[in-house]
Amino acid sequence: MLKFLSVLAIGTLLLTSAATAGSFNIGRAATPAEVAAWNIDVRPDGQGLPAGRGNVEQGEEIFAERCAVCHGDFAEGVDRWPVLSGGDGTLTSDRPVKTIGSYWPYLSTVFDYVNRAMPFGEAQSLKPDEVYAITAFLLYANDLVEDDFELSQENFTSVRLPNEDGFYMDDREESPVFKKRDICMKDCKADVKITARAQVLDVTPEETKAAEEAAAATEAPKAEDVASAEPAPVAEPAPEPVALDDALIKKGAKVFKKCKACHQVGEKAKNKVGPILNDIIGQQAAVVSGFKYSKALKKLNGDGLVWSDENLDVFLTKPKKFVKGTKMTFAGLKKEKDRVALIEFLKSHSQ
Ligand code: HEC
Ligand code: HEC
Repeated sequence: MLKFLSVLAIGTLLLTSAATAGSFNIGRAATPAEVAAWNIDVRPDGQGLPAGRGNVEQGEEIFAERCAVCHGDFAEGVDRWPVLSGGDGTLTSDRPVKTIGSYWPYLSTVFDYVNRAMPFGEAQSLKPDEVYAITAFLLYANDLVEDDFELSQENFTSVRLPNEDGFYMDDREESPVFKKRDICMKDCKADVKITARAQVLDVTPEETKAAEEAAAATEAPKAEDVASAEPAPVAEPAPEPVALDDALIKKGAKVFKKCKACHQVGEKAKNKVGPILNDIIGQQAAVVSGFKYSKALKKLNGDGLVWSDENLDVFLTKPKKFVKGTKMTFAGLKKEKDRVALIEFLKSHSQ
């Protein structure tokens, strides 16, 4: 009976809206549960905050596990992943560092963003208490609270970010600057004079580029040291050199584009978000030196896991399923032929 009533109610709703707003008579009204699932925004006045609490210490631990691989242990940012701390006093410089501490106006934006979008690739997997704890840790990383600070629904709006006053309502309608100008909308300039060209402006800073190239050059030999210094695999003998299929390697190189955000191969390979993948075939798990693996992968190393074709195939199908707790945020390769090609490609970097 209840079900029947609610169907009737939706029917009436649709009919009314059809009459007033010109509906196409398709679909149905969203249920309250569906609306609630989308309605997760948190506002500067605290509206929308879930009940919960978390402190800096708890946040630091979660951050190290779930966020630091991209944002750094101290929220300082790894490689080109976003920096989340520091940058004080840089807003008026040529290269402002815009972070939660230096730039963001409201703490609610931090909570909302993390809750909605992070960890990258695994959005909305955090519980409210975890988001409170992470937000508390991000305040600490920006020197805005002490290490014993706890953030909760109750004290949330009492926290103010330093740059709040740097934001104000759009006042162009009233501003004298705006009014005085007679804005031209047609044939505004008779003759155009080119005063500068992008090439001349040269927006790429030379120093940084040179420094990066120098760093890459000095680190390249290290990558080879790493490969030769690795312990021999325990569970399986090293694969015999076999003739590889060039066409398949080419296909695999294409698939490898999906891994490139985090992994490098080849002579100049360096550890990035993920470890170097040279010589990975037949290698023991979690042995690339200088890379900080998750506890989960280190444990598999202890168990003697070797990256055989078969193990790699299962891992790459669904990394999180094969290694529960891995920090490799990658959904997996569904197509078998992609995995086969990719493994052939990795073999070409393992001989
Ligand atoms: C796999 C890498 C990765 C992981 C892991 C990750 N993030 Fe991010 N994060 C990003 C990227 C990429 C962006 C920029 C996204 C964009 O601009 O669309 C970002 C943006 C952010 C921003 C906004 C930065 C800004 O100034 O705009 C915050 C805050 C943030 N992440 C917090 C977190 C937290 C907290 C976690 C852990 C729960 C986390 N991230 C995990 C990659 C990551
Ligand atoms: C978003 C970043 C990211 C992407 C994309 C990614 N990986 Fe990873 N990968 C990682 C991280 C981080 C680890 C370390 C995992 C750990 O410690 O739990 C890892 C670990 C691995 C390992 C184990 C290495 C070892 O030394 O034991 C292999 C193999 C691997 N990745 C292959 C791939 C391949 C192939 C792809 C593309 C299909 C890929 N990954 C895509 C981040 C990534």
